[in-house]
Amino acid sequence: MRHLLDTRSLRRAEAVGILDVAEDMAETQLREVKKLPTLRGKTVVNLFFEDSTRTRISFEAAAKRLSADVINFSAKGSSVSKGESLQDTAQTLQAMGADAVVIRHGASGAPQTLATSGWISAGVVNAGDGTHEHPTQALLDAFTIRKRTHGAASRGRDLDGLHVAIVGDILHSRVARSNVWLLTTLGARVTLVAPPTLVPQDVSAWPVTVRYDLDEAIADAPDALMMLRIQAERMNAAYFPTEREYSRRWGLDPLRLEALPTGSMVLHPGPMNRGLEISAAAADSPRATVLEQVANGVSVRMAVLYLLLAGDQSSANEKEEGR
Ligand code: CP
Repeated sequence: MRHLLDTRSLRRAEAVGILDVAEDMAETQLREVKKLPTLRGKTVVNLFFEDSTRTRISFEAAAKRLSADVINFSAKGSSVSKGESLQDTAQTLQAMGADAVVIRHGASGAPQTLATSGWISAGVVNAGDGTHEHPTQALLDAFTIRKRTHGAASRGRDLDGLHVAIVGDILHSRVARSNVWLLTTLGARVTLVAPPTLVPQDVSAWPVTVRYDLDEAIADAPDALMMLRIQAERMNAAYFPTEREYSRRWGLDPLRLEALPTGSMVLHPGPMNRGLEISAAAADSPRATVLEQVANGVSVRMAVLYLLLAGDQSSANEKEEGR
């Protein structure tokens, strides 16, 4: 794998391959192998132009568990405030020896530009670009759904036959876009549920069903309900119902949680707006996978960095054991 820029261009076998390597990585963590030597001598740069807790720390943990060196760059407090461009910033970090650049940027397409411009030779991983994509979030979501569904028999499986409902601010959500492409590539049926003003105009070209009523969507018995964060910071042009109306009509309250079929799981990528899109009862219930998603994110990002920088698909266990 040269870069990971989106899930839209991933084929089913590639996606299952990444999830399977992530299984290997998760197993090494379970066996309390704190560090694999695989990426010793490699340098991973976290280039973050937007705020992040989970993604940045997760990539840092993943790189360190593979013995890579990590350089963390945050636009806040950097020479970006003096007008330094993306090209000059990236080339400065490349000159310090970056082998991989993990980039989060407010502009959709920034990772693609970095990967294809010829400015740098490092592999590029998209850690979220504008409203476009967040591929490692979708991979960790798919990993979590597969793991909860198939347990120890997950390896090699796709998500054929599963139904996932994605609920909330679809319009601004790169998480929703990456999940739509990945989950459908893996064989899942996807329903989007949102107020009409938070559904993208081009949704008719997506391989999904759209509903506006959360109770109807729950009655359709989804195997997984993915609640999205209301992105107040990107809400300028869109009409947004009042918070009270939103939480009444599209929030996962305790009654809706009860109405979910037995065995349905509740995902949220975080950060959560408790009391708005998800109640505390739902967020803290045994059905919620929020913290599993965070833990699985480290394994998935280890897999992505490994495939990007170690350059083959032999298992991490084989690497560790020198086979
Ligand atoms: N899910 C997610 O991308 O969270 P952060 O913004 O904290 O990285």
